[in-house]
Amino acid sequence: NKKGFIFDLDGVIVDTAKYHFLAWKRLAKSLDIHFTEEENEQLKGVSRVRSLEKILAWGNKTISKDQFTELMSKKNEEYLSYIAEMDSSEILSDVPRVLQYLIEKQQPISLGSASKNARVILDRVDLRKHFDAIVDGNDVSKAKPDPEVFLIAAKLLNIDPKDCIVFEDSVAGVTAANTANMVSIGIGSKDVLGHADYVFNDFTEISDDFLNELINN
Ligand code: BG6
Ligand code: MG
Repeated sequence: NKKGFIFDLDGVIVDTAKYHFLAWKRLAKSLDIHFTEEENEQLKGVSRVRSLEKILAWGNKTISKDQFTELMSKKNEEYLSYIAEMDSSEILSDVPRVLQYLIEKQQPISLGSASKNARVILDRVDLRKHFDAIVDGNDVSKAKPDPEVFLIAAKLLNIDPKDCIVFEDSVAGVTAANTANMVSIGIGSKDVLGHADYVFNDFTEISDDFLNELINN
């Protein structure tokens, strides 16, 4: 029995939200916009362009197209400087165990991320070798909640979407998985991810037995 296991990256495999926050906060400050951690929460799973649009809207600012492009690249430069310091100690709890179990069971594994930095991050934490396919922000034209990213992953894995299982921490990502007709597993709080088929606080709550059921159902 083969299922396609698709992992979001940010907030599922690594906690990069803190680095996005630092970089967005400095950018907002340069525009005299006060940017809070609660607002940063709302940027989870949201593309880079859309994130800046939201920050500008919260701050009631309009800027030129050129300035927008410049701010986007500045933000990413700073973000990448944090990423450069990452190592495998930043992999979230029990992610390696779950990956190992799925590999032992010969299950196809893909990444399905909105980030254009996904490959760099997977290399930093030395997990890239475990993925049979990688689909990230460079490969899609429509951002989550559009299911495109997960549908491309299913195609690359050569698995029917209905036989795919998605691990996601964002509202938009769970919606994307549901729309793709995949099994959605929310990683985070039930209050936020109630629309997922299953919700766990983190991977320590996901047992090998549960994974085995997903494979055999
Ligand atoms: C998502 C993150 O995975 O990727 C968002 O949750 C981020 O916070 C988005 O904005 C795009 O990432 P990047 O690395 O291309 O700026
Ligand atoms: Mg995420």
